[in-house]
Amino acid sequence: MGRRSKEKQAQGEMDVEEMAKEIVLSDDSIALEEEEEYVPPAPGEEIRLEDLEGVGRITAQKLRSAGYYTVTDIAFASAHELAVILGSEERAMAIIRAAQRLLNKGEEFITAKALFEKRKNLEYISTGVRSLDDLLEGGVEVGSLTELIGEFGAGKTQLCHQLAVMVQLPRERGGLGARALYIDTEGTFRPERVVQIARYRGLDPEKALENILYARAYNSDHQMLLVDEAKKYIEKYNIRLVIIDSLINHFRSEYPGRENLASRQQKLNRHISQLHRLAGLYNLAVVATNQVMAAPDIFFGNPLKPAGGNIVAHGFTYRVWLRKGKEGRRIARIIDSPKHAEKEVAFAITEDGVVDV
Ligand SMILES: Nc1ncnc2c1ncn2[C@@H]1O[C@H](COP(=O)(O)OP(=O)(O)OP(=O)(O)O)[C@@H](O)[C@H]1O
Ligand SMILES: [Mg+2]
Repeated sequence: MGRRSKEKQAQGEMDVEEMAKEIVLSDDSIALEEEEEYVPPAPGEEIRLEDLEGVGRITAQKLRSAGYYTVTDIAFASAHELAVILGSEERAMAIIRAAQRLLNKGEEFITAKALFEKRKNLEYISTGVRSLDDLLEGGVEVGSLTELIGEFGAGKTQLCHQLAVMVQLPRERGGLGARALYIDTEGTFRPERVVQIARYRGLDPEKALENILYARAYNSDHQMLLVDEAKKYIEKYNIRLVIIDSLINHFRSEYPGRENLASRQQKLNRHISQLHRLAGLYNLAVVATNQVMAAPDIFFGNPLKPAGGNIVAHGFTYRVWLRKGKEGRRIARIIDSPKHAEKEVAFAITEDGVVDV
């Protein structure tokens, strides 16, 4: 029974006919909720799902239990996936449009000048390595997805550890004074390494450890669940960096061979959209690692290519390829970037973490 009907009933205002109508309708939450009046939120008031046109208490609850907590989550959802929760694509679309209207204040387009100004205020997390920061033109970009690609031992996991520490530093030292969330799919996260890196960067190692929220992902479903769950922690703990090391090893082992390729890629695509939303909605950086594999179809040039195919290649904004160089050095290069020149820089991995050579 709807909230208002209950109030009415309590006040003895409801007649029998009205009550009967309510009882019949109460099986159908959608019909009931549509009767609820839409009250726009007062300016500055926190916007709740219930404030969206066409969303009542019950729908809001359903959405929340499916991992959609904010109006922004809804605005970025696809009608197809919301339809699974709401029962109809049409209804999903209406609610998504309502959320988008609320967020954009009715404006779909902005000028390139406005976008330029907005991008000038972009934030970066320093890698702690001058050469890598130069390569990335400032460091790891907030609001985007950065992929660290490379063979085993290339330094991907080391760089993840380092970034989880770097984000904690104050802004004047390249950090964001924030926390990191670390999703480990391979079991290679080492708190001892965080202690070493933090010490070198002048942070209290105990505090540095406390500022990293860690979870081990046991399979691809769990990995995706963790990303949804992350939303609960992000604002509360001021998380500005989400690390996934590695992005697709679970997907690859659970969906082997050609016959599973389509389902694997579909799922991976959903995972990457999840990450995009996280980065955009919560204004944080996402960094994920990816292995390389032998490409049997390449006869000239590099016989290795990043795993995950086009879905990953197009999904990530920036792709940094790491490889081992001479005398223990590491080489980094950016590939397929919308804004970076193709160049290579060198760095090293030591007891202190990832450093300049
Ligand atoms: N404490 C340390 N001191 C110096 N070098 C270290 C230290 N710890 C790790 N390394 C270096 O880092 C390398 C491992 O790098 P890392 O674990 O980041 O590789 P990766 O790219 O994540 O590989 P994989 O694909 O296997 O996950 C080691 O081979 C070693 O050279
Ligand atoms: Mg690794």
